[in-house]
Amino acid sequence: MTPPTILTIALRGAEIPVLGLGTWQSEGDDAERAVHHALQAGYRHIDTATAYGNESQVGRGLASSGVARGEVFVTTKLPPDRAGRERETLEASLRDLAVDQVDLWLVHWPPNKQATPQTWKQFVALRDEGLTRAIGVSNYSVAQIDELIEATGEAPALNQIPWSPADYDADLVAAHAERGVVLEGYSPFKRTNLDDPTLTAIAQEHGVSTAQVVLRWHIEHGIVVIPKSTTPERIDSNLEAANFTLSEDEVARIDGLSTVL
Ligand SMILES: NC(=O)c1ccc[n+]([C@@H]2O[C@H](COP(=O)([O-])OP(=O)(O)OC[C@H]3O[C@@H](n4cnc5c(N)ncnc54)[C@H](OP(=O)(O)O)[C@@H]3O)[C@@H](O)[C@H]2O)c1
Repeated sequence: MTPPTILTIALRGAEIPVLGLGTWQSEGDDAERAVHHALQAGYRHIDTATAYGNESQVGRGLASSGVARGEVFVTTKLPPDRAGRERETLEASLRDLAVDQVDLWLVHWPPNKQATPQTWKQFVALRDEGLTRAIGVSNYSVAQIDELIEATGEAPALNQIPWSPADYDADLVAAHAERGVVLEGYSPFKRTNLDDPTLTAIAQEHGVSTAQVVLRWHIEHGIVVIPKSTTPERIDSNLEAANFTLSEDEVARIDGLSTVL
């Protein structure tokens, strides 16, 4: 079967496929097998982090998949307790992943809960040296993003935050868009009741699963989504979210599941 075409979103410095494979809690050989399987199935975007302890396995899956390095978008992240040791941490990631450059490097959490412009300046410098194509943050508030912009004149290309229908917040989406920051969501399933009646009704209309509806809802909003699975069948079915569309009305009904006041 021909793999589905996955849309990409323009980031400063790169194009990010809107659907990727998450790898938190993908451990040991499972991580390698999941990455290998996903790339063979048609994924072109893998999300890992220094803190996940699986960059070597992700790198092996990448190499054994036979997919050219230039076709795969690889993200990794700086643990907050490595602030001040940015270069050595990124160099270790490159070594473990067995790549010359990553596509996106994120500050995993605000160090000591602070925006930390000193770290952001190092990110800019290492990006300018070519160790990563794009730079961004994760778990940052809009106010913290503004602090980085104020201090350096450079906005993160992307912010990776918890996201799901329950988290839907139009103001937060708009605030990122105004700053040219792409929104990437994490934990789409863990944060969702996959038996929800609205999701079930929409899934039945399309002959798909509620998990696929949740992923497609992210895509319709232009929000990058990175479902994690180490189960080959689920890796395949999650990718199928690239193969159908939701109407504006269906998207609005799912937006209505938000619990954000
Ligand atoms: N920046 C951050 O602070 C941060 C925090 C959390 C996560 N993340 C990133 O975001 C990725 C995704 O988030 P997550 O791993 O927390 O949660 P998730 O993707 O919402 O959920 C993963 C769980 O859902 C199961 N699953 C996968 N596909 C499914 C399907 N089609 N139907 C039902 N269950 C399914 C997986 O099981 P199996 O594996 O057994 O199939 C696993 O137990 C992470 O892997 C990581 O890359 C980033």
